[in-house]
Amino acid sequence: MDGQNKIRVLIVDDNPENRELVSKLLMFEGDMEVVGTATNGQEGIAQSRALLPDIVLMDINMPDMDGIQATEIITSELSGTSIIMMSVQGEQDYLRRSMLAGAREFLVKPFGSDELLKSIRHVHRLESGKKKLIYMPQGQQQADDEESSGRVFAIFSPKGGVGRTTIACNLAVALKQATNKRVALVDGSLTFGDIGVVLNLLSNKTIYDLVSRIDEIDGELLSDVMIGHTSGVRVLLAPSQPEHADLVSGDLMRRVIGELRKSFDYIIVDTAASFADATLSVTDVADRILLIMTLEMTSIRDIKVYLEVSNKLGYAPEKLILLLNRADAKTMIDVQTVEATLRHKIDFSISSDPRAVSHSINQGVPLVISTRDNQVSKDIVSMAKSLTALKLGEVEEKDKIAPKKKEEQPQGSTRSRFHLPLTSNRG
Ligand SMILES: Nc1ncnc2c1ncn2[C@@H]1O[C@H](COP(=O)(O)OP(=O)(O)OP(=O)(O)O)[C@@H](O)[C@H]1O
Ligand SMILES: [Mg+2]
Repeated sequence: MDGQNKIRVLIVDDNPENRELVSKLLMFEGDMEVVGTATNGQEGIAQSRALLPDIVLMDINMPDMDGIQATEIITSELSGTSIIMMSVQGEQDYLRRSMLAGAREFLVKPFGSDELLKSIRHVHRLESGKKKLIYMPQGQQQADDEESSGRVFAIFSPKGGVGRTTIACNLAVALKQATNKRVALVDGSLTFGDIGVVLNLLSNKTIYDLVSRIDEIDGELLSDVMIGHTSGVRVLLAPSQPEHADLVSGDLMRRVIGELRKSFDYIIVDTAASFADATLSVTDVADRILLIMTLEMTSIRDIKVYLEVSNKLGYAPEKLILLLNRADAKTMIDVQTVEATLRHKIDFSISSDPRAVSHSINQGVPLVISTRDNQVSKDIVSMAKSLTALKLGEVEEKDKIAPKKKEEQPQGSTRSRFHLPLTSNRG
């Protein structure tokens, strides 16, 4: 690889030993080079302006100006530079603040060379992908999309218990019913994944079986680890033991999804309500994120924060599809107020029917199979059909295929800055 194509890295850390260690770790990599080092935030900004690195490895705690402030300035000024945070503190609050400041990834010290190199390459690949998407002529982009493969929908919410698993399972089955195409369902709620319970599936094979075979992942191995549901949906279950969840890395999730794209038309991934690497990797690579919310202040607040975080993560607004679950539940909050508060329209609404939903979970039979005339089923089936009509590169078409009642139209679709704590959840 010639010098021009190398990933250019700037290291910002006040500790000379850390700077030297990281420089050494990168020294022998043919596809990257350390273009400079800095010892505090101010110097990091000056060096970034002068050197225009692809990646800045940024420590958080530094004298003068800390890494988070420096990150905010660099990401607002230099669109071609991505930041990877490094910190001894791995708490959710640090992660959240870093993401809000515009960092792309977060490494908790001490990290190994494998982790560091993977992060740098991953962030660089994402950034290059974004540029390609922006600059590629429309026709070419569509041709590539059509050629490439299955569509990935991540079912995410920053708050737990809002219906992700219910929606993921029913949506996967509804897509299968509507299209008879190849549909995969992945339980990415790794710690307490319950898709096996919701679909009444028993298997001793789970995603955990792939942990030790990450370099062998291909269609055949996946097919061996996945289990078939009577609907025809193929399911990749979460680890059966919660303590195995942490061993499923973001890299593994990316590889699994990348491989599934080759042999499935639709890939639905249930997720955990967290910013763990495995979840971020899923939302990174997803074509669309179905962002699930309910009419509760906590959910609305967390969605508001997530919209801000997703902006910082570089997700295009069109990547997010906002789904209001239990839309007709009796609360004091109405849809128009929510849309005005979020400055984002609600794309899909799903009715509330606690009895029917609980019954279907307890029976292990999705509502879209057992009770197709139930309103929750109808809403999910209708959403599935809309999603099949959604073409990549035609994101602005979303309004047309999911028509909203007039009174549900939002006030605008800009985002505002909102610094509120995210609910930290299990998984
Ligand atoms: N449309 C709905 N109407 C009524 N109840 C619902 C609906 N969707 C989900 N529920 C109920 O909400 C609860 C949480 O649902 P679910 O497990 O799907 O959420 P989750 O976001 O996956 O939660 P977790 O954080 O535990 O993974 C369940 O008790 C389910 O019965
Ligand atoms: Mg769940």
